[in-house]
Amino acid sequence: MCGIVGYIGPKNALNVLMHGIKRLEYRGYDSSGIAFFENGSLRCEKAVGKIAMLEEKLSGNVCISHAGIVHTRWATHGTPTFENAHPHFDCHNEIAVVHNGIIENYDYLKLKLQQNGHTFRSQTDTEVLAHLIEEHYRDNLETAVMEALKKVEGTYGLAAISSKDPEKIVAARNGSPLILGIGDHEYFITSDVSASLEHTREVMYLDDNEIAILTPEGYKTKTIQNIPTYKKTEEVLWNIDMIEKGGYKHFMLKEIHEQPQALLNLMRGRVDGNHGPIKLGGLINREKELLEAKRIIIIACGTSWHAGLVGEYMLEELVRLPVEVEYASEFRYRNPIIEKNTIVIAISQSGETADTLAAMRQAKGKGAAMLSICNVVGSSIAREAGSGIYLHIGPEIGVASTKAFTAQIAAFYLFSLYLLLLKNKDYAIPPEMISAIRTIPDKIQTILDREKEIGEIAKIYKDTNHALYLGRGFNYPVALEGALKLKEISYIHAEGYPAAEMKHGPIALIDKNMPVIFIATKDSTYGKILNNIEEVKSRGGKVIAIATEGDRKITEKVDHVFHIPETSGVLIPILSVIPLQLLAYHMAVLRGCDVDKPRNLAKSVTVE
Ligand code: F6R
Repeated sequence: MCGIVGYIGPKNALNVLMHGIKRLEYRGYDSSGIAFFENGSLRCEKAVGKIAMLEEKLSGNVCISHAGIVHTRWATHGTPTFENAHPHFDCHNEIAVVHNGIIENYDYLKLKLQQNGHTFRSQTDTEVLAHLIEEHYRDNLETAVMEALKKVEGTYGLAAISSKDPEKIVAARNGSPLILGIGDHEYFITSDVSASLEHTREVMYLDDNEIAILTPEGYKTKTIQNIPTYKKTEEVLWNIDMIEKGGYKHFMLKEIHEQPQALLNLMRGRVDGNHGPIKLGGLINREKELLEAKRIIIIACGTSWHAGLVGEYMLEELVRLPVEVEYASEFRYRNPIIEKNTIVIAISQSGETADTLAAMRQAKGKGAAMLSICNVVGSSIAREAGSGIYLHIGPEIGVASTKAFTAQIAAFYLFSLYLLLLKNKDYAIPPEMISAIRTIPDKIQTILDREKEIGEIAKIYKDTNHALYLGRGFNYPVALEGALKLKEISYIHAEGYPAAEMKHGPIALIDKNMPVIFIATKDSTYGKILNNIEEVKSRGGKVIAIATEGDRKITEKVDHVFHIPETSGVLIPILSVIPLQLLAYHMAVLRGCDVDKPRNLAKSVTVE
């Protein structure tokens, strides 16, 4: 959600900044803007729309600059207009600020600043920061930023430059990620490591209430209270190939196809022998809390929440622990009861989702032990939890989450086996439970190899306006996820329901134009779901079924069937979701939608 890149160094800053911000376009793409030093003074360009519009404005620019900041925006305050695009400036156009997050007391600050004679040009909360820094400017930019931020309530990851203090970038973080990249006599400040990966893998993650000062000579970090901080650099393990499309038309398609390898990466070094052990290095030192756990609460948003539902069913089924799954955004504003021996697990691909982070803090404050299942190493959620399971599946760039979902489920499976072994030292995991997860990547591949079949179904239903997804048990979260994938990238209205709930309302929607997607694999609810299929067919509905290999009976009952390999019941969602990801993808492409950048959405929701 919004992207920031700042650069200072010997290279042409414009090239570095534009290259970097394009890598972050998936974070937000309704407008963009850049500010840089040109012969000692500040120059700015902005454009509404995708970053290509800004590039067009800059094309033919012969100026060589060695420092600047750039931003891609996902609107929170104010519509996506030229005026609202970042960077924002003070009254005299001497201070430029780019910002991610939300300034909560901006109304109050704006009024005060207006009373002091400041004139505003936009409706954004960010502009307040530029004026506030101007108000506090005495003799250098960092002191002005620190003083200004003392007045601010809310969240920010920001970068500021000033023609009064040239060749310097001041960046600050509170609740919105910022990473300092350290190259060869060059320094970067980014909201996501992928923006500087081409130049350096050496990074530092800023902490809340910390600022960084970048100059051509080096960098300093300190708290907003002016106390120096001494941080260790970390090496980013991702490489440049991982953040490029590698021949695929879209990142989403690439990531769907990466799933076999992603799950192999997730399991590497963690599954030993035929009976275990399961090695989860991120849980070292947490054995006591895990052993004493009486209850687990899972908090997450969106697709990660769906994976959490599968996790709930899995932990209950395999470990017999009571589990609840909560929307982080609801949990944080309630007054949840956290008893002794409760473990809260936050699930997040990006590790930066604001609601999930805030819910964790709420649970921590009430004494819960905290773990996370995250993909992005060093992300805010992973650091807040302190321990947990990293997915290790490489960056997910497509806005619609795919490989993170299947990996989160696989992580829950390993976690369940790990708990079983922890709770019973004499327990030997049945070999079929180990082989079930080991064979999953190949089974996913056999589904991906039949992508064309899904493409054909997509052609038939591409013009539909509505779709219903139904599943039971472990396939209920898959129904939710299938519907979410379709609606977010194709803009077709889709709903997911537990199949039995259909009779309590959604059945009224069914007619000959309504495709109903049943996830009807062979499990204990199979007979019941066949009845639900009959109910839809007898009302003229069109049925697409995801069924288990060899199931001929269902073929006679439905309009289209896609068979998936058999696997252990608890792992079924990893397989049954793949055709639904592909269906959503192909329907969206056939409708001419921008799959990787669906309207109004952004990867990583860092605002509440
Ligand atoms: C949907 C999607 C979102 C995210 C949600 C949480 O395809 O990607 O629903 O799952 O915004 O994001 P993370 O997992 O990064 O916390």
